[in-house]
Amino acid sequence: MTPPYIIEEMITAKAIADRTETLCSTVTAEFCGTEKLVVVGLLRGSFVFIADLVRKLDLPIEVDFLEASSYGDGMNSSREVRILKDLRNAIEGCDVLVVEDIVDTGHTLKHVTGLLRSRQPARLKSIALLDKPSRREVDFCADWIGFEIPDEFVVGYGIDFAQRNRNLPFIGKVRFTDATGKTLNN
Ligand code: IMP
Ligand code: MG
Repeated sequence: MTPPYIIEEMITAKAIADRTETLCSTVTAEFCGTEKLVVVGLLRGSFVFIADLVRKLDLPIEVDFLEASSYGDGMNSSREVRILKDLRNAIEGCDVLVVEDIVDTGHTLKHVTGLLRSRQPARLKSIALLDKPSRREVDFCADWIGFEIPDEFVVGYGIDFAQRNRNLPFIGKVRFTDATGKTLNN
């Protein structure tokens, strides 16, 4: 059971759409001329972002998914990254774009990009909608970031708190409340 909380809007749906459009132009230019770009979504948090991204990429793409787990149902990273579901297809010699919701401690994307690089893709790039650089524990930088955010726990646009709130169209901060509805964290 999660304690009571409210959600405060942090990044509007419009701001996300505008930023996604810009990112897609950059990615399209980067992979211009590719025979095929394999867009790899990290389940489950990236499912909304990847859906919006691929519809704005003017490239021949394939979509695949990988599920890595470093978070339980709570708010803290376990740091040990496990692959729960691997890619369906081999990526050797392919151009690959890994799509993540948030880079937090950095353990997940560092592990996943290391694993995929060992499979010898032609090019491997990573994109994350959100980045919390102040939380980083390992040396990792995604190639493209939608928004840099402070150390806040966020939900929406595919991102959950204990599996809830993925369906919000915007990104919001989680604010815990007491029984009267007064917020406890600022
Ligand atoms: P990292 O390995 O610490 O970088 O963790 C990245 C993963 O943690 C992300 O893919 C998210 O699933 C999850 N995560 C990190 N920060 C948040 C947050 O603020 N809200 C919800 N999930 C988060
Ligand atoms: Mg995730």
